[in-house]
Amino acid sequence: MKSLIKTPTEIQAMREGGKILAMVLKEVAKAVKPGIKTIELNKLAERRLRELGAKPSFLGYKSDYLVYPASLCTSVNSEVVHGIPKKNKILEEGDIVGLDLGCWYKGLCVDTATTAAVGNVSAGAQKLIKITKQSLIEALRQVQGGVSIGDIGHVVETYVEAQGFSVVRQLTGHGVGRSVHEEPAIPNFGQAGKGPKLLAGMTIAIEPMVNAGGYEVATQADGWTVVTVDGSLSAHFEHTVLVTEKGYEILTTI
Ligand code: MF3
Ligand code: CO
Ligand code: CO
Repeated sequence: MKSLIKTPTEIQAMREGGKILAMVLKEVAKAVKPGIKTIELNKLAERRLRELGAKPSFLGYKSDYLVYPASLCTSVNSEVVHGIPKKNKILEEGDIVGLDLGCWYKGLCVDTATTAAVGNVSAGAQKLIKITKQSLIEALRQVQGGVSIGDIGHVVETYVEAQGFSVVRQLTGHGVGRSVHEEPAIPNFGQAGKGPKLLAGMTIAIEPMVNAGGYEVATQADGWTVVTVDGSLSAHFEHTVLVTEKGYEILTTI
């Protein structure tokens, strides 16, 4: 197995790609307004990535016999992740939408996600977004060479459940860089001190997916869109980070 440790050249490519990706995701999030179609967000994301010299990494991504048909994932309300942008899906005031974007740059890939409110949203939706975002920050605070992957999941799970929400268990964060998904898996639940250890030089995508109701999810007939089984709202935040001896560096930031 190839080492999970990236070289300085690979890390620099991911830093540059991560900056581009963060800029584009920010632009896409800003474009979220009542009346916009999810396909328009996809077009904006793809056009801006290419203008900045990057290539979408989800477009054409293969999972078993399925091929992902877009550059961006747009997951609305009870959709958790991997929602496919559509020309007939109009965002409405009060919706929340997960925006997940990845790109290739200089041969390496990075991955990031945010959840945006469409106009004014309910207090419950605002709280879900805030807690999910904070759960990613809590996760990042654990990251350092030598810590166990279970430490990350443990803090996310504990923090989220204390707020009355649940963490999705069927999907995880992951190593990233030479491929869209690499080892190790980074679950958003777990036990402190358990699991493999992070090593300085690894690049990982940490991505809590938080449901307002139960943690159970299912995949829709399109083979991609993951939804909450109870129909409750779900939010998602993700950063690609470099593990360092002393902590971490967020790569998907401006
Ligand atoms: N971005 C997703 C993740 O965070 C993977 C998307 S793959 C796609 O792991 F094909 F669904 F786009
Ligand atoms: Co992602
Ligand atoms: Co990811």
